Amino acid sequence: MNKIIIAIDGYSSTGKSTVAKQLAKHLGYVYIDSGAMYRAVTYFAMTKGIIDAKHFDADELISKLDDIKIRFVFNSDLGFAEVYLNNVNVEREIRSMEVSNLVSKVSAIPEVRKQLVKQQHAMGEEKGIVMDGRDIGTVVFPNAELKIFMTASAETRATRRYNELKAKGDNVSFEAVLKNVQERDYLDSTRADSPLYKADDAIEIDNSKMTMEEQLQTVLGLVNKVLDN
Ligand code: DC
Repeated sequence: MNKIIIAIDGYSSTGKSTVAKQLAKHLGYVYIDSGAMYRAVTYFAMTKGIIDAKHFDADELISKLDDIKIRFVFNSDLGFAEVYLNNVNVEREIRSMEVSNLVSKVSAIPEVRKQLVKQQHAMGEEKGIVMDGRDIGTVVFPNAELKIFMTASAETRATRRYNELKAKGDNVSFEAVLKNVQERDYLDSTRADSPLYKADDAIEIDNSKMTMEEQLQTVLGLVNKVLDN
């Protein structure tokens, strides 16, 4: 059977990665969380003192881009690939609120995007891939056979992210999570390079009131339509 590229874009915390992971598992495809790559670069910059809440030396980060090696390593116990930064598992660290608060600044830098998009292209060479992010259907894989654009209200998304962080034991307030979701929506969709928007040929799914199973079945239906054509 022909393998395709499935691009899933949308605002932060729309549950893209949950659907993408399930979909990839179901199809026997590789799942790539492109946001995790921007988060790993942000975490690298934090640990090197290049960025914090008050200061960001973009030129220094650009000069160190070749020192950043990101890999996805499949963890069969978890059923998904974890992110390694220079051979260290940073899956937990990159999901922190601190990284979430700084990642939109880092991902607005064109040199950072160029570097990561190059790696994303290489990952999609063999097709059979589900990649989620902000610019997958518009910039990274404009010829993807299936493009999905996920939406949900900011409150729904913040509630999901808040519950996830709480379950992991992070001490965050709902207000701080909602503020972060709204700020990232704004920054990600207004930046000059590769802003988030729905590709003309993307199919929009508002999952505010959908269960995980309903989302998976909807997307699988779309995949089957593409494969039948
Ligand atoms: O999907 P996420 O929330 O983990 O992504 C974190 C940030 O990375 C997001 O706020 C913007 C950036 N990002 C991007 O600019 N382009 C992508 N393809 C994926 C993420």
